[in-house]
Amino acid sequence: MGKTSQNLAIGIDLGTTYSCVAVWENDGVEIIVNEQGNRTTPSCVSFTDSQRMVGEAAKNKAASNPTNTVFDAKRLIGRKFNDTHVQNDMKHWPFKVISGKDDNPMIVVNYKSEEKQFPPEEISSMVLAKMRETAEAYLGSTVKNAVITVPAYFDNSQRRSTKEAGAIIGLNVMRIINEPTAAALAYGLHKKATLGYKRNILIFDLGGGTFDVTLLTITNNKFDVLATDGDTHLGGEDFDNNMVNHFVEHFKTKHKKDIRESPRALRRLRTACEKAKRILSSTTETTIDVDSLYEGIDFCATITRAKFNELNKDLFRKCVYIVERCALDAGMDRSSVDDVVLVGGSSRIPKIQELLQELFNGKDLCKSINPDEAVAYGAAVQAAILSGGGSDKIQDIVLRDVTPLSLGVSDYFGAFNVVIPKNTTIPTTMSDGGYTTMSDYLSQISINVYEGERARAEDNHFLGRFVLPIPIERRGGVDVKYCFSIDENGILDVTAEELKSGKKANKIITNDGQRLSSEEIARMVKEAEQYKTEDEEFKKMTEAKNAVENYLFSVKDAINEISSCLPKADKKRTKDAIEQTIAWIKANSNAKFEELVRKMEELEIVLNPIITKVMEKKDTVDKADIGTSRSSNVSTRTRRSKTDMVLKWSGLALSTSISLLNFDLGEMASCLSEIVGLICES
Ligand SMILES: Nc1ncnc2c1ncn2[C@@H]1O[C@H](COP(=O)(O)OP(=O)(O)OP(=O)(O)O)[C@@H](O)[C@H]1O
Ligand SMILES: [Mg+2]
Repeated sequence: MGKTSQNLAIGIDLGTTYSCVAVWENDGVEIIVNEQGNRTTPSCVSFTDSQRMVGEAAKNKAASNPTNTVFDAKRLIGRKFNDTHVQNDMKHWPFKVISGKDDNPMIVVNYKSEEKQFPPEEISSMVLAKMRETAEAYLGSTVKNAVITVPAYFDNSQRRSTKEAGAIIGLNVMRIINEPTAAALAYGLHKKATLGYKRNILIFDLGGGTFDVTLLTITNNKFDVLATDGDTHLGGEDFDNNMVNHFVEHFKTKHKKDIRESPRALRRLRTACEKAKRILSSTTETTIDVDSLYEGIDFCATITRAKFNELNKDLFRKCVYIVERCALDAGMDRSSVDDVVLVGGSSRIPKIQELLQELFNGKDLCKSINPDEAVAYGAAVQAAILSGGGSDKIQDIVLRDVTPLSLGVSDYFGAFNVVIPKNTTIPTTMSDGGYTTMSDYLSQISINVYEGERARAEDNHFLGRFVLPIPIERRGGVDVKYCFSIDENGILDVTAEELKSGKKANKIITNDGQRLSSEEIARMVKEAEQYKTEDEEFKKMTEAKNAVENYLFSVKDAINEISSCLPKADKKRTKDAIEQTIAWIKANSNAKFEELVRKMEELEIVLNPIITKVMEKKDTVDKADIGTSRSSNVSTRTRRSKTDMVLKWSGLALSTSISLLNFDLGEMASCLSEIVGLICES
């Protein structure tokens, strides 16, 4: 089936540090490059007085605009402000996070000289929008549908929040799939020719912020997840943090000064540490050099791979422990694992590879798929299957994933009763009956739903509460059954039924207050449109600003070249026109930008015919001179100047005041004065 913009669907790997977008095309997957030509894009948003930036441009602002440059939104999504992980991360973030409604975290930035608060979903929606734009630019059509990946170990509320991030930008999130499962799809397709009958695969996915392990079997085109485990708060960012902490202390000891007092210094140190970490994956020692890091002090230090491993040894060990636990849960002996596949940028760390190899008795690790792109690749395959836009190669793929965490209810004593055990294949529906009342004459019971592995209900993650009306009876007189259904996205629907009376209550878990309300989503949808318009307006303005500057410089070049040949009358007209423009600029610093451009166009109307006429005459003379002097150079230069002499501006309406644009009017006026000077001199 051919693709139309209606059924076009992309796969997005929304990463903690980098995101990647891909599409199924011409019987294969295309990883789409961004406008800078890169295959992954930083999951970063920066706000300034004049604009909002997403991706590469935003990351470049991280050092100069640290408090308004937001990253790591995935570490906040679906979590509460008082979550210990959030509290810890905040110590490392130069941007501000506060507690909002229902203790949900809100990121505080300054945008266009105003304080703005964004929930993490909204920041993620901006990254998603950027990825969609990247795909649209490549495909030349609008994209409405997407499959988005999340860490396998994400809980219900983190999944919902991710889906909502899509909703904010009007993206139809066809499915949320698990990152390691998506990577397994990529691996399975890649290896299809060589995979024998039924192979046990372990996907080890260590990214920037999260860690996932998934054990699955691949049989032809059937992908069956057996078990999944992980830590949604373990990744490259943590290794960076440990290195930063180390050097902050180093600096304190050496200079008795605390870098933490400066967000800018901290950000610069962090960038240097991340770079050093990457280098340490291929060499055993490197240096960190940051000029004038803090209070004018240059920073220079060496770090060895051994020291880096030492700083992170507990985290590395934790990764290995989680792999062991996952195999145990799947009931699989480690020697039965056929392939250990590395995914995620941090899986490149040699020590991690060494520990993993040891755990699998020296087995070679599979590095044949691109660790940065495999997840988006698999998401694009799933998107093509769901939209019917794929080919025979993939249409018969069957993917069966599992629920990463146990789901259940709390009982009268506060114990956690599991209804769906973890690692159950989804979608599934499971029931658990035999519940009754522990007090006389109750008219209703309250049902509390949790997710997790702890014995005490309240140590798990609370998902929601609802009420079931029951017939009034003595203690033990009612018979209640729970039915839990979990869909392909891992989203849960719970029904409680009193069997004697047939009374039922149903609830799709809304994570009490954790989910954004429909009003909040509606507001963000509107804001997303507004930001997009503002971004476009800004882009138009910088283009126009550039056109004006280019024009001025080429006029100056041209006049420099021809001023001696200008007839007297033309000299006067040129000089008068430019002086008038200077006077206008001085008197109208608060004019709208489009008025300035109009003024430049007026100047263009006077100057261009004069300059062109003289140049053409000069060109003829130069051509006649060819062979006798160095004039061929002059004539090429003259021709180039002529094409530049058009104000390349598309005539867009720009209503912003010049003074808000960082447009240096003084410099513009002095450039014009220099031109007048050139005319007068000749
Ligand atoms: N050669 C390398 N050595 C060590 N770490 C690396 C290397 N290359 C990349 N990384 C780290 O990998 C991380 C990025 O990996 P990746 O893009 O897979 O993560 P992500 O998708 O953004 O995060 P997540 O999947 O956890 O949400 C960064 O922390 C980066 O520093
Ligand atoms: Mg990732």
